[in-house]
Amino acid sequence: MEKFIVKTTALSKRYNDQPVVKDVSMTIPKGKIYGLLGRNGAGKTTIMKILLGLASASSGEVRLFGQAPDKYPEVYSRIGNIIETPSFYPYLSGPENLSVFSKLKGQVQKNSVAKALELVDLSHAEHKRFANYSLGMKQRLGIANALMNDPELLILDEPTNGLDPIGIVEIRKLLKELTEIKGKTILISSHQLSEIEQIADIIGILHEGELLEECDMNQIAQHNQRFISITVSDSHQATRLLEENLQLTNYQVDESGTIKIFDFTYEPQEINLLFGKSGIEVSSLFIGSGNLEEHFREITGGVGIA
Ligand SMILES: Nc1ncnc2c1ncn2[C@@H]1O[C@H](COP(=O)(O)OP(=O)(O)OP(=O)(O)O)[C@@H](O)[C@H]1O
Ligand SMILES: [Mg+2]
Repeated sequence: MEKFIVKTTALSKRYNDQPVVKDVSMTIPKGKIYGLLGRNGAGKTTIMKILLGLASASSGEVRLFGQAPDKYPEVYSRIGNIIETPSFYPYLSGPENLSVFSKLKGQVQKNSVAKALELVDLSHAEHKRFANYSLGMKQRLGIANALMNDPELLILDEPTNGLDPIGIVEIRKLLKELTEIKGKTILISSHQLSEIEQIADIIGILHEGELLEECDMNQIAQHNQRFISITVSDSHQATRLLEENLQLTNYQVDESGTIKIFDFTYEPQEINLLFGKSGIEVSSLFIGSGNLEEHFREITGGVGIA
């Protein structure tokens, strides 16, 4: 089985000589929800279109299920998608809409409409016209449409747009079930940090066409944690002492040599004392707390995400 479902290498796209996707190398492991986060115009939809073969890259490589889609176009049949706002026929019901679209796509699998509707919990609204759906129902019908034919990879462009917090939690639950129970892999985009934070396992931050950071939520959780920040004369010796004398391993050292300890077993004073006894000079010591928004603001050069 392939480890990575999607892998791009130095993917770039220009529109009229304007670069809109720049050297993007992203990796989506199997069974994960990858959230592509970026402001309007960052290039999210463009990347998704390239992955789906709906737009061509100017340079770079795409691998889907370990294969080059230009040589093996059959890989596209393993992907379901919502790109931008899906349009459905307002006077048709959910099942009627899904049947029409699956016929258009040449899919004639029995029961697939019913199965997809059941997965997104829309079976009860069988006779309701699309025009009378709530926004959340519309989004879920979009996901049902993407799920037709049971694809292994879902590419969902802003599926939580306009949803209220409860709607977002519901979509998260649905997407989690699809990955954890059904083993599907999901790429989703959003311009809202607070939304993507609730849904994704891995976040890719796209800013003006560049993928600035790709990090998993466990790492990100650390940015939101409280920590003891200590700046010392010798960070190598200091971290050795932390590990050997205090058995503290949950720490990070940044480029300037400042140590952040995410473990509050010991009071900052105790750590200060230990360093003092060992001849390590402490020039700064405080309790800090990270903030994800601030982190993103920093890496996007001050503009932030949402
Ligand atoms: N067909 C096109 N022709 C020319 N420029 C385009 C085309 N499609 C997109 N662009 C430009 O590429 C850039 C990235 O657009 P894209 O739609 O990928 O951004 P996005 O991150 O999806 O934004 P949004 O959050 O608004 O959906 C924008 O500057 C856009 O104007
Ligand atoms: Mg878009």
